Amino acid sequence: MTPILKVTMGLGGGIFLLVAALLIVPRLQPAQIVSTGPGVKVAFDAALAGQGKQLFANRYACSVCHQVSSAGVSGASVGPDLSRVLLAQVPQGTRPELNPLEKWMKEKGLARPEDDPEKAAGLVTQYLANPPDYSSTMKGQVLRFKDTAGGDDAWLKDVKAIVELLKQAATK
Ligand code: HEC
Repeated sequence: MTPILKVTMGLGGGIFLLVAALLIVPRLQPAQIVSTGPGVKVAFDAALAGQGKQLFANRYACSVCHQVSSAGVSGASVGPDLSRVLLAQVPQGTRPELNPLEKWMKEKGLARPEDDPEKAAGLVTQYLANPPDYSSTMKGQVLRFKDTAGGDDAWLKDVKAIVELLKQAATK
């Protein structure tokens, strides 16, 4: 093979790969971009977050209404995607009434949860322990979850694992 032929074939192969990549790459992109910026820096316990993921997907079936796409938890869209809920952030276009945590955190004196993710995690825990009246769906659901758990204390223990999952999700 003459060197010039080799070069031409090399070029042809390169262009073929480039075209293939351009055709394939857009299909690998997630349909919905939920991250509103780089992941927040917050420490979390990976084993507890793993338990939280099981509780979320199986025991309480939160995924009937929510997904946590950044943590690989698929689910429905009745409630918001919880990937950045630690910071009270929801995907763009979400109706404000689906984001009660924003109001909740402001009421508790944390207008910028990204400045204090640990405090934000504590407020998400409090919210899930007893959602306010203006979070009407969750208020009803949590009564049901307390029944499933076997009381307030058992529910709070499970909430802590679920919040660990939400911390992990927010780091991505
Ligand atoms: C029947 C559907 C449904 C189920 C099941 C459900 N949620 Fe929700 N969730 C909602 C809706 C709707 C909202 C919006 C606020 C409201 O109406 O309470 C919400 C809001 C939230 C919020 C606050 C979101 C924000 O941006 O302020 C969190 C956190 C949350 N849910 C966590 C959970 C967890 C954890 C579970 C399971 C233990 C769960 N949800 C189960 C429907 C549901």
